[in-house]
Amino acid sequence: MSGFADFALDRAFGHPRGLLGALGGALMARGNAAAEQQVVRSARLTGAERVLVIGPGPGVGLLAAGERASRVVAIEPSARMRRTAERRCAALSNVTVLDGTAEATGQPDSSFDIALSVNNIQLWPDRAAALAELHRVLRPGGVLLLSTHERWLPGGRAGLHADVQTAGFAEAQTWAWKPPSRGTTQAQTRAIRP
Ligand SMILES: C[S@@+](CC[C@H](N)C(=O)[O-])C[C@H]1O[C@@H](n2cnc3c(N)ncnc32)[C@H](O)[C@@H]1O
Repeated sequence: MSGFADFALDRAFGHPRGLLGALGGALMARGNAAAEQQVVRSARLTGAERVLVIGPGPGVGLLAAGERASRVVAIEPSARMRRTAERRCAALSNVTVLDGTAEATGQPDSSFDIALSVNNIQLWPDRAAALAELHRVLRPGGVLLLSTHERWLPGGRAGLHADVQTAGFAEAQTWAWKPPSRGTTQAQTRAIRP
């Protein structure tokens, strides 16, 4: 791909900013909604959980999690996406959107029951550091749920599965999930923080 195309894609979707970021946010809110909703459904929230959402982008899954959990903290490095996600969740007092990254969430040890991430693993500059951070902030017995576009996932499903195990998670399961209508096949992993 050309340098300009890479630049535009990163500005729209990878690290959304400016007008392209606004456009990317609107496209992601539609195109990724099925995956965001499916991951939140798979968390089987009961209203009692403390949930960490990594890279919520425009906040479709964040809203769904906020409606089903006790407390939700979202970590999002893009200021534009933080504003969009905050607007989408404005009616929910249990949702907080903070600046940060998967590698540095700024959250206390063992403070979440569930950590989930949709469509941003491929953007983490250091996957091992990010998984170590999610291991740190999950309580023992806490659940890690990861999902992303399989076609853009470095190392593929097998690599993701191995990295999750190397980070110290147990009972890892990894599979492919195809959204019923729009959206690309997702590589998904579920694992437990021992
Ligand atoms: C492709 S968008 C996906 C957004 C949303 N989860 C969705 O599926 O529509 C990727 C998001 O991850 C965020 N992001 C980029 N690098 C990140 C990192 N190192 N840690 C956490 N989030 C990151 C971006 O700012 C962006 O909002």
